Amino acid sequence: MRVFVAGATGVLGTAAVRRLVSSGHEVTGIARSEEKRRLLYTLGAEAAQVDLFDPSAMRAAIEGHDVVCNLATRIPTGTAMMRTAAWRENDRIRAEGSAIVAKAAAECGALRLIQEAITYVYADGGQDWITEKSPIAAVPLTQSSLTATTNAMGFADQYRFAVVLRFGMFYGADALTRWQLERVRRGKPVLNGEPDAYVSPITIEDAASAVVAALAAPTGIYNVAGQPVHRTEWARALGTAAGVDGSAKFFSPFVRRLLGSRAEPLSRSQRISSDAFHTATGWRARTDLAEGFAPAVKVAR
Ligand SMILES: NC(=O)c1ccc[n+]([C@@H]2O[C@H](COP(=O)([O-])OP(=O)(O)OC[C@H]3O[C@@H](n4cnc5c(N)ncnc54)[C@H](OP(=O)(O)O)[C@@H]3O)[C@@H](O)[C@H]2O)c1
Repeated sequence: MRVFVAGATGVLGTAAVRRLVSSGHEVTGIARSEEKRRLLYTLGAEAAQVDLFDPSAMRAAIEGHDVVCNLATRIPTGTAMMRTAAWRENDRIRAEGSAIVAKAAAECGALRLIQEAITYVYADGGQDWITEKSPIAAVPLTQSSLTATTNAMGFADQYRFAVVLRFGMFYGADALTRWQLERVRRGKPVLNGEPDAYVSPITIEDAASAVVAALAAPTGIYNVAGQPVHRTEWARALGTAAGVDGSAKFFSPFVRRLLGSRAEPLSRSQRISSDAFHTATGWRARTDLAEGFAPAVKVAR
C-alpha cells in the first residue's frame, strides 16, 4: 500500500516508518528539514516538505496514497510539561492539524486514516480494567486528543476506514524516558499518583507495530498498551533501568498539590485493556519491562 505519514520523523513516526517499509509498503513522510529528509531516505521512505497546517499543501502531498497516518504531536518534555503554554502547539496539532489531515485524506480519496491518541483521556479506573467503553474524563490538556478522535472518526463511511489508536504511556529511547531516568539517577522523584494504581506502558517499537496492524483493523477506537503494572513495579523497573539501588521515588504530596490539574491525568490508575485491538488484528505488545528500557539504557551509556 502507499502510506503517507504525518509525524514521520518523530519518536513513534520513525519506528512506524521503518516497520511499514519493511512490511513492503511504499511510504512518504513529512520532513521539515534537510536532515529529516535524509533520515526518511535512510529508512527507505520518500519525503514531503509540507506544513501540517497548510491544507492545500497537505492535499498535494497526500494525493495518490491509500492510507494516511497522523502521528504528529509536540509533547513538552521535562519541567516544560508543567507550563500550560508549552502544550499549545500540541493542542493545535491534535485539534486543528487532525481536521486538516482528515479532510485532505478524504478529498484525495484515501481509503484509511490512522490517528494517534492517548489513554490519559480515561477517568481513573482504580483496580478495574479500562476498555474503550470506560468513562472519559478529559482535562484541558487532553481535550485535543478527543477532538482529534472525533475528526478522524468523521473520515469513516461505508467505503473508508478510520482507526484511532489510544496509546498507553510510551517508553524506550525517547526524550521523556531519558529525562526520567536521568532524574532517577540523581535521586529526584518522577512518579505521580498512588503506589497501588496501575500504569500501562508501551514501548515505542510495540506502538509502531500497532500502527502497521491498524492497516487491517475495522473502523474503530482502540486501546493500545502493554501489560499494565502497579506503579510500585514501574518504580522498581525505572530504578533498575537507571542503575540505582532501589525504586524511583514519588513526588511528595506538597509537590503533587503544586502540580495540580496539569499533572492529574498522569496520576490516574490506568489498567488498560487492549483486547479489542487484539481481537480485531491479532496485535499484542511483545516487550517486557526490562527489554523495553534497554534502548534508553544503551543511549545513556
Ligand atoms: N502516549 C504517550 O505516552 C506519548 C504520546 C506522544 C508523545 N509522547 C512522548 O513525548 C515526547 C516528545 O514527543 P513529541 O511528540 O513532542 O516529539 P516527536 O515524537 O519527536 O515528534 C513528533 C512528530 O510530529 C511532527 N510535527 C510536529 N509539529 C508538526 C507540524 N506543525 N507539521 C508537521 N509535523 C509536525 C514532528 O516533526 P519535526 O521532526 O519536523 O519536528 C515529528 O515528526 C517523547 O518522549 C514521546 O515519547 C508520549
